[in-house]
Amino acid sequence: MTLSVLSVASEAYPLAKTGGLADVVGALPGALAAHGVAVTTLIPGYPAVGQAIGRARVVRRWTDLLGTPARLLKGEIAGHPLLVLDAPALFARGGGLYGDASGDYPDNWRRFAALGRAAADIAGDYDILHAHDWQAAMAAAYLRYAPARTTRTIVTIHNIAFQGAFPAEIFPELDLPPEAFALDGVEYYGGVGFLKAGLEAADAITTVSPTYATEIHRAQFGMGLEGLIAARSASVHGIVNGIDSAVWNPEADAALAQPFTARTLAKRRVNARAVAREYGLGEGGPLFTVVSRLTGQKGMDVLAGLTDALVQMGGRLALLGSGEPALEAAFLAAAARHPGRIGVRIGYDEALSHRLQGGADAILIPSRFEPCGLTQLYGLAYGCVPVVARTGGLADTVIDANEAALAAGVATGIVHDGVDPDTLLRALARTIALHAQPTVWSTLQRNGMRADFSWARSGLRYARLYRNLTETA
Ligand code: ADP
Ligand code: GLC
Repeated sequence: MTLSVLSVASEAYPLAKTGGLADVVGALPGALAAHGVAVTTLIPGYPAVGQAIGRARVVRRWTDLLGTPARLLKGEIAGHPLLVLDAPALFARGGGLYGDASGDYPDNWRRFAALGRAAADIAGDYDILHAHDWQAAMAAAYLRYAPARTTRTIVTIHNIAFQGAFPAEIFPELDLPPEAFALDGVEYYGGVGFLKAGLEAADAITTVSPTYATEIHRAQFGMGLEGLIAARSASVHGIVNGIDSAVWNPEADAALAQPFTARTLAKRRVNARAVAREYGLGEGGPLFTVVSRLTGQKGMDVLAGLTDALVQMGGRLALLGSGEPALEAAFLAAAARHPGRIGVRIGYDEALSHRLQGGADAILIPSRFEPCGLTQLYGLAYGCVPVVARTGGLADTVIDANEAALAAGVATGIVHDGVDPDTLLRALARTIALHAQPTVWSTLQRNGMRADFSWARSGLRYARLYRNLTETA
């Protein structure tokens, strides 16, 4: 029997993306179709989404959805059903998805409570409601307080650091029964916690790697929610993300100057030269890349402090990212100090991210924590050897090139313990030494390219979880 799932999120590739959440939400329908699960995706009607779906059919209207009129439009995303919450007062804005130059939108609580409310209102048409991150988590909370419900709920944590915590004053506006403002409801440290509310209400909780599922039981990673996670431990599952191979495949990637496979690795040189040209870099020495949000989570402050050392050791760096102004400035200054060795692009550029994965030798991901991480998976698939901190999904997906792993022929990257400057410096030095051994290096590349990070296995795990939930309903 086909199961029907309503997948609710604030992003979905290719319509709206700021990070890995979008890639995962965009890939799930395809990953699950193979397992007899029909996924309908619900996202907000940001301007770009409205333009992309064009003249869509209206399938539902609200005269007052948490204070604003709204419509539900039906469209398609990569051949799968898409629902768009069209509420211009909330989503038709010129800035980013969550804020603009002056910071986060002050009414984000209303924007994403409305998304959750709309999802709960239509959830009865589906077997499972699957909500992603705090922006969608209220869907599970609304459903919990709905009069009659048969739909089972899952909340997936893509990053527990983002919780959607708001002051208690918003509670009366949420249109929830008074008893919802409780310790086991939406109340969170005296205010309202959207992610917390969803995690309390959900029938199952998933996060995006087994290691992160373990880590968030501890205060260091749980960010205040570790108690709740521990209390609900039996319902917490770690399912690692996959790669959407329709989007990330070096053999058929239109963004690359030269497509290639594990058997034709030498062709990558064309891409490497193209990246060097694009970034104004000279030839010679391993070419490192970074494709990342420039934030403390990603360890970018530590890397910014090591750029001189990286160049001294003979490395080059081509960076693409945006984020904290001080980090952007630090990397731009490094590029100014080292013309021809360090190139920096501040911004967001999907095609360039493909070219970097297809041309650079190694991708640096020194995250302090990383729920899953996708850029190391893209690196593996593209022969761009990942250099990663041993945390979360990075620890689960990259096999360190230590002697034993090299001898066994299974190594795929460089893994370092912690992200202090000394540790990262040693990892850079080790990477450069490995790169100087062409046979070892190309073995690392090939091992990574042959590793299977498609959605096949993880799609099956989600499908099983959905079935278990409906069977125990
Ligand atoms: P996170 O979601 O925490 O930012 P992930 O590694 O899961 O980290 O996903 C990041 C996604 O965003 C990847 O698809 C990556 O290629 C992409 N990305 C990050 N920064 C940029 C950028 N500046 N330009 C283009 N793509 C980017
Ligand atoms: C979050 C996490 C990242 C993960 C992504 C998709 O953005 O920071 O590690 O890969 O979600 O699940």
